Amino acid sequence: MRERGGRGSASLEPMRVHVADHPLITHKLTVLRDRTTKSATFRALTEELVTLLAYEATRNVRTSEVDIVTPVAPAKGLSIAKPKPLVVPILRAGLGMLEGMVKLIPSAEVGFLGMMRDEETLEPTTYAERLPDDLSNRQCFVLDPMLATGGSLIAAIDFLLKRGAVDVTAVCILASPEGLAAVEKAMHGRDVSIVLGAVDEKLDEKGYIVPGLGDAGDRLYGLA
Ligand code: PRP
Ligand code: URA
Repeated sequence: MRERGGRGSASLEPMRVHVADHPLITHKLTVLRDRTTKSATFRALTEELVTLLAYEATRNVRTSEVDIVTPVAPAKGLSIAKPKPLVVPILRAGLGMLEGMVKLIPSAEVGFLGMMRDEETLEPTTYAERLPDDLSNRQCFVLDPMLATGGSLIAAIDFLLKRGAVDVTAVCILASPEGLAAVEKAMHGRDVSIVLGAVDEKLDEKGYIVPGLGDAGDRLYGLA
């Protein structure tokens, strides 16, 4: 069986960054940003946005050729290759992105990383982990709506690569330019891609994305 897709072993190329440029994404993001948007709408829009971003994020998902027979004739097709891709939402806010992603690749496995950044130092800590011990040869998709300083995403990707993941694609809804630059620097030469809904203006002094959408976890789960 021949495999297609994937990006093979680590290259020395810069991290691949794709910023979605689509009016539907910008429209949904605008409603998400609006502070009057209620949690139920926020959750629904997050899911829709992820499905749109996931289409781009899975462009290089590994597939194998398969033989099938249609009602008319034998044909060759493609099927998601094994080992199955692993989707890793970063708790808490990344959980709001999970349904949108697995809708697109229902055969994916799901692992969890719980991370929280300290409000003063902005340093992330990992408080929970439920992932396969061995990620050798796995393609991983990390989900986190917000890439602010980049600390949480760098720690999450490092964790997966150390466990043996071969390539990692992060899907984020919003990034700050500062955080994106930090992730690009940390991941240079590693097989890492990132797909984003938008890159905003800046980080503020509290480490929030400006204009951003506020605290994604609080807005998703009704604490805003
Ligand atoms: C948010 C967000 C990211 C992180 C981004 O999570 O979902 O994980 O902050 O910040 P960084 O790029 O500066 O690391 P938070 O730590 O607030 O936890 P939560 O998802 O439980 O709200
Ligand atoms: N986490 C969020 O939820 N929002 C930000 O703007 C920054 C970090």
